[in-house]
Amino acid sequence: MVKRIVAINASPRKGWNTDMLVEEAAKGAASKGAEIEKVDLYHLDRFAGCVSCFGCKREGHKGECIYKDSLKPVLDAVKDSDGLIVGAPNYFGDLCAEFKLFYERLVFPYLTYRTDVRCCNDHPIPVLLIMTSNAPEGMYDSMLSNYRSVLSSFIGPTKVFVSGETMQVNDYSKFDWNMFDGDQRKERREKVFPSEMKAVHDLAADMF
Ligand SMILES: Cc1cc2nc3c(=O)[nH]c(=O)nc-3n(C[C@H](O)[C@H](O)[C@H](O)COP(=O)(O)O)c2cc1C
Repeated sequence: MVKRIVAINASPRKGWNTDMLVEEAAKGAASKGAEIEKVDLYHLDRFAGCVSCFGCKREGHKGECIYKDSLKPVLDAVKDSDGLIVGAPNYFGDLCAEFKLFYERLVFPYLTYRTDVRCCNDHPIPVLLIMTSNAPEGMYDSMLSNYRSVLSSFIGPTKVFVSGETMQVNDYSKFDWNMFDGDQRKERREKVFPSEMKAVHDLAADMF
């Protein structure tokens, strides 16, 4: 049976760092025969995070987000899939807001609010969470370990891939910035980023 993998880019910038890594991970999964459904969250019509309706806790809909907006088909696709790749840029020390809207609605339906059985997901799937950041790798390990732990508990075994010190713009000289060395970022993009692309490709090929 062909595996179906949902690959989600939660960065607003299609074709930039996060999206490139998501695309490459998707190619890794596809290299093992998986079918990919790619979603750019910022290209969907406006959607909400969890609206706390508790529909997912009622008989007949347990484990299912029932809120109908443009994210609902994406959540349904993830539910029916064999794996999830999701990438987000770091904004203000956390994963970006659009990712969090998705994350709330992905995870909350499987949380039971019961003390005996905490999770009602009977179809766990592997998850590859990708984060890109200005900061070097390692800076956000504890924040990411929380996401890894929650995703592993409620969605399925989760691996995290980080690419730090990304090239944020093509030409740093156009901006009044002195916090980052544009030449160093460009050099990193040319010398280090390609090996990260290969690493994420191989990781996804192994996972899915
Ligand atoms: C609103 C905003 C907030 C950011 N905050 C952080 C931050 O707190 N820490 C960090 O390391 N990078 C931060 N960044 C940088 C991005 O995480 C980084 O450039 C990322 O690779 C961008 O991903 P993209 O190229 O896919 O858009 C921020 C960028 C923006 C636009």
